[in-house]
Amino acid sequence: MQSSRLLQHLILLLTTGALLLLLSLQPAREISAGLVVLSYLLFCLWIWLRHRRPLLSVSSGSITVAYASQSGQAQQLAEKSAEQLIAAGCPAQAVSVDQLQPAHLQGQILFIASTYGEGEAPDSGARFEQLLANQTDLSNLSYAVLALGDRQYTHFCAYGLHLDEALSKRHAQRLFPPLTADQCDAATLSQWQQQLGHISGDFNFADWQAEPFQQLALLERICLNPSSSADKVYELTLSSTGEHPEWQAGDLLEISPRQGRETLFKRLAELNLNPEQSVSDGRTLLEALASRQLPENHHRGLSADELLSALKPLPQRQYSIASVPADGSIQLLVRQMYYPDGRPGIGSGWLCEFAPLGAAIDLRIRVNPSFHSPAASTPMILIGSGTGLAGLRAHLRARPHGSRNWLLFGERSESADFFCRDELMNWKASGHLARLDLAFSRDQAQKIYVQHLLRDAADELREWINQGAAIYLCGSLQGMGQDVHSMLQGLLGEDALLRLQQQDLYRRDLY
Ligand SMILES: Cc1cc2nc3c(=O)[nH]c(=O)nc-3n(C[C@H](O)[C@H](O)[C@H](O)COP(=O)(O)OP(=O)(O)OC[C@H]3O[C@@H](n4cnc5c(N)ncnc54)[C@H](O)[C@@H]3O)c2cc1C
Ligand SMILES: Cc1cc2nc3c(=O)[nH]c(=O)nc-3n(C[C@H](O)[C@H](O)[C@H](O)COP(=O)(O)O)c2cc1C
Repeated sequence: MQSSRLLQHLILLLTTGALLLLLSLQPAREISAGLVVLSYLLFCLWIWLRHRRPLLSVSSGSITVAYASQSGQAQQLAEKSAEQLIAAGCPAQAVSVDQLQPAHLQGQILFIASTYGEGEAPDSGARFEQLLANQTDLSNLSYAVLALGDRQYTHFCAYGLHLDEALSKRHAQRLFPPLTADQCDAATLSQWQQQLGHISGDFNFADWQAEPFQQLALLERICLNPSSSADKVYELTLSSTGEHPEWQAGDLLEISPRQGRETLFKRLAELNLNPEQSVSDGRTLLEALASRQLPENHHRGLSADELLSALKPLPQRQYSIASVPADGSIQLLVRQMYYPDGRPGIGSGWLCEFAPLGAAIDLRIRVNPSFHSPAASTPMILIGSGTGLAGLRAHLRARPHGSRNWLLFGERSESADFFCRDELMNWKASGHLARLDLAFSRDQAQKIYVQHLLRDAADELREWINQGAAIYLCGSLQGMGQDVHSMLQGLLGEDALLRLQQQDLYRRDLY
C-alpha cells in the first residue's frame, strides 16, 4: 500500500517534470511531441494506479470472511465475524468478494452474501460471479454461507443460496448448510455465531447486539408535491435537543415504525379490549401494541399479555438521508405508499400520516459505505428520480466548493413534482452543478425519463467518464434503476461499466 502511494507520487512528479521541461525549454517539435505523449501516458498510469484495487494478501492459515454487500449489512457482519474469530485466536480478515482472486479460493472462506434485484447478486458480487464461473475444481476450499435477505421478496436469499450451490458443484467442502437470515434476524445470527464458535473452538463470545434505536423528534413535515397526480412526497425534518447521531452522505436511516394511534384504538375497541389496561411490563396495552402488527379477528378472546406475545413486531424500514450533519437535522424525502385496499404503508404511513409533529421517532443510522462520496477531486454524475433525489441531495450538499457535479433528475411534471427546485436551481446558477438535466415524463406527448437524458448526452457522459467521473444512481430499482443500468451498459459497454463498478466509480442505492 505504502509503496503504491510512493509510486503514485513519483509518477505525478515525473509528469509535472515533463510538462515543466516542455514549458520552460520549448524544445524542438519532435521532442515536444514526445514529452506531451510521455506526460499523457504517465498521467494515465497515475489514474490507473489511483483507482486500482489494492491486491489482497491472504496469509495461509488465516480465515477469510468474504462479503457481497449492497447497503453495508453483510460487510458489517463480516467484520464482526472476523473480530470474533480473531478474539478466539484464529487469524481472520473480512474482504469484499470482488477482491478475491482464483489463488485465494483455497483454505477456509466464510461467505456473507445479501441478495438484490430479483434474486440477484449485489453489485460487489458481479465480478466474483465471473471468477467462479471459470473455476472447475475447488476441492482445496472449505466454505460456509450466511445468506442475508428478506422474506418479503419472492426469491428469498437467492444469491447466497446460489453461491452455496455453485461452490458445492465445484467440489468445495461445505462446512455446514447455508444459513438464511430474514432481515438479519437475531436467531440466525446467533446460529452463525455458534458456527464460528465451532470453527474457532471458542464459544465464549458475546452476542452481537443490534445498534440500539435512539429517538429524534419529528419537527417538520412538508409536502413537496401537493398538486401532483402521484402519491405525495414529504420532506421530513428530525432533530433532537440532545446528542445527534453521526452520519455522512450516502448513509441510510432505519426507522422502527408504529401504528397510528386512532387505528389501533379503533381495532382494540372492535375486539372489546380496553386500550388503557396494563400489560405485565407496566405499559398500557395501547403503548405496548404500538410497534406490533395490528390484531386480527382471530385474536379475539386473548388476554392483553397473550395478545402482546401473539403479535409480531412491525418490520423496520430504511430511508436515504437527504441532509448532512452541517444542516443540524436529519432530513428525509419519503413517498407515502398504500396497499391496494387503501391502507397506508407501514413505514411511510407512520412517517407521513400518523406520527404527529413532535412525536418521537425510533431510528438508527445504517452506515452504507458502498454509497459514500468519492474524493472531492473526482467529478460526480448523479442520476435519480422521485425520492431518489434524497441520497443525491445529501451528496450535493456534502460536495466541496469547486467540485464538478452533474445531476440528472426525473419526475412526472415540472409544475407539480419539481422537488427542491430552488436549491437545485441555485446550485445550477452558482456552478455547483456544472450541468443539470431534468426529465419531466408527463410534460409532453412522448415520455422522457432520465435514461433518455443520458442517451442524449452520450458524448459528454463519455467525456466525464474519461476524466475519471463516478456515477451515483439512487431511487427506485424497478423502472428507473434497471433502465438507467441498461442504458449505461449500451452507452459505455458492459465490460466498461463492470470495470467502473470494480473501481467504485459506479455505485447504486436502489429500492
Ligand atoms: C436502501 C433503501 C433506501 C430507501 N430510501 C427511500 C427514500 O429515500 N424515500 C422513500 O420514500 N423510500 C425509500 N425506501 C423505501 C422504503 O424503505 C419503504 O420500502 C417504502 O417507504 C415503503 O414502505 P412502507 O412500509 O410504507 O410500505 P409497505 O407496508 O411495505 O407496503 C405498502 C404498499 O407499497 C408497496 N411498496 C412497498 N415498497 C415499494 C417499492 N419500493 N416500490 C413499489 N411499491 C412498493 C407494497 O407492495 C404495498 O402495496 C428505501 C428503501 C431502501 C431499501
Ligand atoms: C432493491 C432490493 C432488492 C432486494 N431483493 C431481495 C431478494 O430478491 N431476495 C431477498 O431475500 N432479499 C432481497 N433484498 C433484501 C436484502 O438482501 C437484505 O436487506 C440484506 O440484509 C441487505 O444486506 P446488505 O446491506 O449487505 O446489502 C432486497 C433489498 C433491496 C433494497
